[in-house]
Amino acid sequence: MKILGIETSCDETAVAVVEDGRNVLSNQIASQVEIHARYGGIVPEVASRQHILAIIPILKQAMADAGVSWHDLDGIAVTIGPGLAGSLLIGVNTAKSITLAHGIPLIGVNHLEGHIYANWLLDHSPDSTPHFPLVCLIVSGGHSDLVLMKRHGDYTVLGRTRDDAAGEAFDKAARILDLGYPGGPAIERSSREGNPSVPLPRAWLKGTNDFSFSGIKTALRRLVDEGNISSNSDIAASFQEAVIDVLVTKTIAVAREHRVKQILLAGGVAANQLLRQRLVQDSPIPVLIPPLVLCTDNAAMIAACGYFRFRAGKTEGMNLDVLPGLKLG
Ligand code: KG4
Ligand code: ZN
Repeated sequence: MKILGIETSCDETAVAVVEDGRNVLSNQIASQVEIHARYGGIVPEVASRQHILAIIPILKQAMADAGVSWHDLDGIAVTIGPGLAGSLLIGVNTAKSITLAHGIPLIGVNHLEGHIYANWLLDHSPDSTPHFPLVCLIVSGGHSDLVLMKRHGDYTVLGRTRDDAAGEAFDKAARILDLGYPGGPAIERSSREGNPSVPLPRAWLKGTNDFSFSGIKTALRRLVDEGNISSNSDIAASFQEAVIDVLVTKTIAVAREHRVKQILLAGGVAANQLLRQRLVQDSPIPVLIPPLVLCTDNAAMIAACGYFRFRAGKTEGMNLDVLPGLKLG
């Protein structure tokens, strides 16, 4: 069964074709990052207009790469939220147009569920296949959620951030340190030249599975304002270390508590090498992590998630709308 996935929730225009929820036949992504970098962050109006320009060429390329035409497709899966309303609309309207023109079933996908399903796109060995129950740490620009999954489509949010998301914290820290946008990769690059020698606070929020990253950001700003720092890269490395320390420790604790079979990592921050290494190193429970291109926003994960929704009979009509504030569970 072949599903076409469409993702336009933020600043990547992405289209992919995935077979049986597990085999990536094509995965096209047009990034707007260089355009938004000029503004130091995403400008929603600019993002929508870039999606309009990119979506049809990317769609054609994804279908050509996969060697499919319309009659080969069993479903069109599209991100309906969370995300920027004006950006989501481009993807949803494109998907609806395809459904209208070709009668292919329409599937609405939650972007966060999509991130989790990137883990179904690893190789097919038993060790690389997700097994329930599992705990997934979703760390992106907008979310830091710890989610328990007992079966497909079943999500219990065990913990979430009370202020900044992990990716947002990386982006803000990079701005404070003048390292550029997007912040995650910039902090990671700078950290490679530094040592995590600067003591920074960690918000453990004991007795809960929640996160908080605004305190560490404030501490960082104070250090910089006081001119109290030896090297930017030492600070970047210390910041990265502190955020990852909390993410890894709390994820392992919650996974043990719920006696899950696996820990899954998902979302843009999952591209961070230190986070990947530390989680695998420290966890007594097997860890699955998607390859880098499937951690940051892409449409293959949307198609994978769409496949499992389609199999569960969850399709949509022409009244499908965007849900910019959509949550998990
Ligand atoms: O999942 P994603 O691509 O988009 C959202 O759904 O938000 O995540 C983007 C976030 C950004 O905040 C970016 O700074 C962060 O992921 N990110 C990273 C890395 N690559 C991207 N954070 C830390 N280390 C990285 N290597
Ligand atoms: Zn995302």
